[in-house]
Amino acid sequence: MPSQVEKFFIVGSHGLKGEIKVSGAKNSALPVIAATLLTREPCVLENIPKLEDVNIMLSILKRLGSKVEFGQLLTIQNNRINDLIIPEELARKIRASNLFLGPLVARFQEGVVPLPGGCNIGNRPMDLHLKGLRLMGAEVEEKAGFIRARTKRLKGAEIHLDFPSVGATENLMMAATLAQGTTIIRNAAREPEIVDLQNFLNLMGAKVKGAGTDVIKITGVNRLKGVTHKIIPDRIEAGTHMVMAAATQSDIIISGVIPEHLEAVMAKLKEAGAFVTFGDDWVRVTGKSIIKPVDIKTMPYPGFPTDMQPQILALLTLAQGTSIISEGVFDNRFKHVEELRRMGADIRLESRIAVIKGVPKLTGASVIAHDLRAAAALVIAGLAAEGMTVLEGIKNLDRGYENLDLKYQLIGAQIKRVNGEEKY
Ligand code: EPZ
Repeated sequence: MPSQVEKFFIVGSHGLKGEIKVSGAKNSALPVIAATLLTREPCVLENIPKLEDVNIMLSILKRLGSKVEFGQLLTIQNNRINDLIIPEELARKIRASNLFLGPLVARFQEGVVPLPGGCNIGNRPMDLHLKGLRLMGAEVEEKAGFIRARTKRLKGAEIHLDFPSVGATENLMMAATLAQGTTIIRNAAREPEIVDLQNFLNLMGAKVKGAGTDVIKITGVNRLKGVTHKIIPDRIEAGTHMVMAAATQSDIIISGVIPEHLEAVMAKLKEAGAFVTFGDDWVRVTGKSIIKPVDIKTMPYPGFPTDMQPQILALLTLAQGTSIISEGVFDNRFKHVEELRRMGADIRLESRIAVIKGVPKLTGASVIAHDLRAAAALVIAGLAAEGMTVLEGIKNLDRGYENLDLKYQLIGAQIKRVNGEEKY
């Protein structure tokens, strides 16, 4: 029985021309889905991408008793929640399941989530989430791989995050909306997805101010209402297409974006020699035959995004010179390097630093994607390479990209999704 494991056949595709429309932001959809737990009234969400990660979060909600309908719109109603324990087998598939903890404790005074599994991109504890909940008066115990948080009612607190953690900022923002009194989160993450979450919470009747800066103030209220909200476009998907255009000497318009969210990526691609222009809701990237080496340090927003590091590293394997990438956020996010070496890349790793010596070309090979953004990087490398690349592990890609193969086929790329032993 041929394995039903899907894979991509990719043939080097250069000089593509066309337009790609980006989907809604995965990293906005996931916290907003968790935030619907804060009200018993129905919420209607627009522009939610059809992704594996979204499906897993919705499966968890359904197991808690949520009513979920996902067609063109996503409708969620949490008026019959009958369980406060996030199911382990689902939670271990997605770290973002930890975002249910804050809303559960805020609305039901209790929540239980499995400790997040060690992910493919380094150790990812929840200490900052738990420190904040304890400061808000929750009794938090970690036992047998589970975290249980309980309280009579959360109360406002002053919280300083040791690191501007996106998830901790989101969890604590959500928890604080129904707490008694005012909460201030200092050294908060400033990502656009935090601003989107603030907008959603305030539509529900919350009082949140400061998202997008490093100080967020939340004044607790007694209840929140169901609302309709359209989430922002996915800046990491957009950045992925921009890098693909630069790596394949293509001329691509990426539409339905918020250019201001892409400033760091636009700046680096210009430094690398690509021609980049933008308008109200689009960015255009024209790749040039000469790719210049650049140095990058990934940082929390508005710095260069860590979620774009694998993709731009793939581009820089073809630069005329040596580039240095320093991974400033995660302690083990270079699983794509080994696979790129199989395609002829010359990369040296030292802890969180990658030294990339450009080579004249990459050659198609059989490679495996170990995580979501590594998968994106290998698609880019396959399109930039000469010859055929067989990419396995594309279930990782489907976690965060909606129909990436179809989007690239539409602009002429030779990329095909096949099952099992099917031949190209
Ligand atoms: C969010 O993850 C994103 N996921 C990640 O995107 C992104 O890479 C990351 O933020 C950084 O931008 C979603 O939004 C669903 P963090 P999150 O808490 O919240 C350490 C993708 O590819 N840390 O900001 O889990 C942690 O170990 C994904 O779309 C603690 O030490 O990231 C990491 O080194 C991958 N203690 C750093 O902070 C904590 O309590 C950043 O983590 C929490 C985090």
